[in-house]
Amino acid sequence: MIQILLIHGPNLQLLGTRQPSIYGNADLTSINRKLTQWAKSNGVRLVIEQSNHEGRIVELIGKAKGRFEALVINPAAYTHTSVAIRDAIEGAGVPAIEVHLSNIYGRESFRQHSLIAPVCKGQVCGFGPLSYQLGLEAALALVSSSDPARKNSNQRRRR
Ligand code: DQA
Repeated sequence: MIQILLIHGPNLQLLGTRQPSIYGNADLTSINRKLTQWAKSNGVRLVIEQSNHEGRIVELIGKAKGRFEALVINPAAYTHTSVAIRDAIEGAGVPAIEVHLSNIYGRESFRQHSLIAPVCKGQVCGFGPLSYQLGLEAALALVSSSDPARKNSNQRRRR
């Protein structure tokens, strides 16, 4: 089974009540529930973490090698500030996808630069909670294309 680690960064525990005009009305529990359903029907073992602490996120990424085939991360505000999270992703060597609920390129100038994106395979932003699912789909496609045996066994599982 393909194993994917999903990390939600700081303040995302507040989804649902935090600036709904930007981040929507869905809370983190309901977003995670849907993603877990998606994972089940796609033969993915999904582990979800949320942390407000940079060091904890660095540790989670550091332990991901050998345990997860891909990382999907919304680094939230750390996107724009954290060399430590960037170095952790680069050092772990686990393919990563950066996701954001909002379109960071249409917001304040300080949000328009990601320190994380250059060490990721790609970035999905602007689709609300759907960004997470699109990020997971990209991660699954990446892992499957790098290991066709896994792709076949996952397709069999879905039938
Ligand atoms: C965010 C965008 C960041 O700029 C912000 O600090 C967040 C959420 C998003 O998902 O749109 O906390 O990562």
